[in-house]
Amino acid sequence: MKSTIFFPSVALFTGAVSTPQSNTKNWTHDNCHSSPAHLIPTIFLAGDSTEAPGGGHNGTEGWGQYLQYSFDLSTAFVNNSAFAGRSARSFTREGRFQAIADLVKPGDWVIIEFGHNDGGSPYPASSDTGRADCPGAGNETCSTVYANKTEIVQTYPTYLINASTISLSKGAKVILSSPTPSNPRGKGNYSYTPSIFNYYSSLATTELGGPKSGVYFVAHGQYAAQAMRLLGKEVVDENYPMDHTHTAPYLADVVARSFVLGLKCGTAPLAGLVMNATSRLEGELLGTCLSANETVPI
Ligand SMILES: *[C@@H]1O[C@H](CO)[C@@H](O)[C@H](O)[C@H]1NC(C)=O
Ligand SMILES: *[C@@H]1O[C@H](CO)[C@@H](O)[C@H](O)[C@H]1NC(C)=O
Ligand SMILES: *[C@@H]1O[C@H](CO)[C@@H](O)[C@H](O)[C@H]1NC(C)=O
Ligand SMILES: *[C@@H]1O[C@H](CO)[C@@H](O)[C@H](O)[C@H]1NC(C)=O
Ligand SMILES: *[C@@H]1O[C@H](CO)[C@@H](O)[C@H](O)[C@H]1NC(C)=O
Ligand SMILES: *[C@@H]1O[C@H](CO)[C@@H](O)[C@H](O)[C@H]1NC(C)=O
Ligand SMILES: *[C@@H]1O[C@H](CO)[C@@H](O)[C@H](O)[C@H]1NC(C)=O
Ligand SMILES: *[C@@H]1O[C@H](CO)[C@@H](O)[C@H](O)[C@H]1NC(C)=O
Ligand SMILES: *[C@@H]1O[C@H](CO)[C@@H](O)[C@H](O)[C@H]1NC(C)=O
Repeated sequence: MKSTIFFPSVALFTGAVSTPQSNTKNWTHDNCHSSPAHLIPTIFLAGDSTEAPGGGHNGTEGWGQYLQYSFDLSTAFVNNSAFAGRSARSFTREGRFQAIADLVKPGDWVIIEFGHNDGGSPYPASSDTGRADCPGAGNETCSTVYANKTEIVQTYPTYLINASTISLSKGAKVILSSPTPSNPRGKGNYSYTPSIFNYYSSLATTELGGPKSGVYFVAHGQYAAQAMRLLGKEVVDENYPMDHTHTAPYLADVVARSFVLGLKCGTAPLAGLVMNATSRLEGELLGTCLSANETVPI
């Protein structure tokens, strides 16, 4: 399948860069109460446990907790609204996209990243967990009964397009970001295949009109996988302490940084608010900008 490409051609690797210290403290709302969020852009994060405060629990953490480190608090304020266990479908049904849209003001950014809880099928209704999207890339719908209510379930791209449209209409810009990898080293040698949701996110970006409509794609899955390839099996395994999905704080910070590299390697103007220069990000820890052909998911 083809998909419009929004990436510039390969950026040059600028040479050796020292590995930065990890950010030790995860960001909590306590840090944020005094932030002048009404004066500076807010970056809202919509996603699941791989991104959420507290991650998947048991000492894991979501990458969204470390994104603020790349934005000076006087420049942009990160609101991590990701919530464990959610899919594009349940985030919609529970009003979480609406809660973000209610707060969005012109100049804000909404970053949407789902996929870990979106797989499967809402059929049969007796085993519907309320999370699986309707399979498909288009306007297919699935009628099911969840929590004793009839629910018309949409496809993943439909949920993303719907959520994006609402925030775009309020003057925000949107980034559709591909899901983080499951431990790409779990089975021995490094192996990463982007999931279908990677493709769906880039497809939804295209269907919304792409950059000219204020919608950008970040191949976060590929960038995070690249960092995990460079980190080696031992460090990566250690940092998936609970299962193959949820990261320990150190790796969550690396995954946040890999998002920032993907952002800086693309064309979204949010990159201009990042405090770090691209040349400082490319290197032994995160790798380099990926060429557009490598970031096309399918
Ligand atoms: C993140 O920070 C909060 C508040 O400081 C703390 O309660 C939580 O345990 C931290 N998470 C991890 C994984 O350390
Ligand atoms: C579109 O999004 C709004 C706000 O999140 C929600 O109330 C509505 O149900 C969504 N529509 C569909 C078809 O999912
Ligand atoms: C972050 O956004 C949520 C809506 O998703 C809102 O309820 C919450 O108050 C916001 N937090 C801050 C610190 O602005
Ligand atoms: C769904 O999409 C197809 C093909 O793009 C179109 O022909 C059809 O009218 C659409 N159906 C609905 C209900 O929007
Ligand atoms: C659904 O209905 C059944 C039978 O009335 C009831 O036992 C059950 O608690 C209901 N479930 C929910 C989630 O409301
Ligand atoms: C990993 O790759 C090496 C060298 O290609 C090979 O010998 C080894 O069997 C592989 N291990 C696994 C678990 O696939
Ligand atoms: C994670 O913590 C919960 C309690 O919060 C516990 O029931 C569960 O067994 C733990 N899982 C793992 C894999 O450690
Ligand atoms: C940018 O620099 C800050 C301060 O050194 C650091 O905490 C943050 O992790 C850096 N961001 C990336 C993407 O490396
Ligand atoms: C992408 O293009 C580069 C340069 O043309 C090539 O070396 C590389 O193999 C391509 N990657 C993929 C995944 O096709």
